[in-house]
Amino acid sequence: MTHQQTAHTAPVEAWDAIAARYDEHVAPGEADLAAAGLRLAKLRPGETFLDVAAGTGGLSLPAARLGAKTLATDWSPEMIERFTARVAAEGLDAEGRVMDCHELDLPDDSYDVTGSQFGVMLVADQPRALREMVRVTKPGGRVLLIAYGDPAEFEALHFFVSAVQAVVPEFEGPSEDEPLLEFQVADPDVLRRRLIDAGLTAVTVDTSHQERVAVRTGQQLWDWTLSGNPIPGTLVADLTDRQRDDITRVLDGMVRERSDGNGPAVLTAPLNIGVGTKPGA
Ligand SMILES: C[S@@+](CC[C@H](N)C(=O)[O-])C[C@H]1O[C@@H](n2cnc3c(N)ncnc32)[C@H](O)[C@@H]1O
Repeated sequence: MTHQQTAHTAPVEAWDAIAARYDEHVAPGEADLAAAGLRLAKLRPGETFLDVAAGTGGLSLPAARLGAKTLATDWSPEMIERFTARVAAEGLDAEGRVMDCHELDLPDDSYDVTGSQFGVMLVADQPRALREMVRVTKPGGRVLLIAYGDPAEFEALHFFVSAVQAVVPEFEGPSEDEPLLEFQVADPDVLRRRLIDAGLTAVTVDTSHQERVAVRTGQQLWDWTLSGNPIPGTLVADLTDRQRDDITRVLDGMVRERSDGNGPAVLTAPLNIGVGTKPGA
């Protein structure tokens, strides 16, 4: 690893540890969002596509299925292993490589579109990672960043914190004094500014899309929350099995109340989808 850790980032081992669960509980729900992002970046069949902090391929699998020649990069070997297994199973024109996004081991001016979905959003030195994304993109190519919007409207997070507090009243949740890096570009204007500062022109930030988490049980919401990011797991690491069971039961009630007994409960979170063009074509 080339980049120095801070207290707010999960180490690569923590991402490795959740890779299988990420692939099972989180990635399958991202297909519609990924398709919307790729449309906004105007990715076309036959173009080259680079996915940065790609995980198990939430963005790069749809890109490859679209017919783009795709490279998925992530610092977690476990995530990349799952991606390459899927690529082989589907016979896609794509490859995966282990790489830290702060220092991409790739030549300048190489990709028609470079994207990152919920990846560069959360890294320690985001301005540097964005400059790297721009560096490896061809002049005239596009850079796409999909990131969470306002955490105050992140319903799954609030369901989870409320359920834990119902069982463990002293539980505080994520510290409000030190906002999570996951929300560093929750303000669309900050995202716009960072994309411009990274060297992009014609920058747009679309705020019309939402993440939609569809769950039928408290267990499914627990799994989604603990599989999507290592941080929730560290917050509840000291709970007993009994407390975890109780929390799942509380979540069950919340999910049932939201769905009103009809179909799954859909919990939403606002998103910022930024796209810019590398000048110089
Ligand atoms: C929330 S997941 C998103 C995965 C994927 N892009 C998706 O849409 O499903 C965040 C990913 O960022 C990766 N990541 C975190 N820090 C990184 C870094 N410094 N360099 C490369 N990947 C990193 C993690 O390993 C993880 O796979």
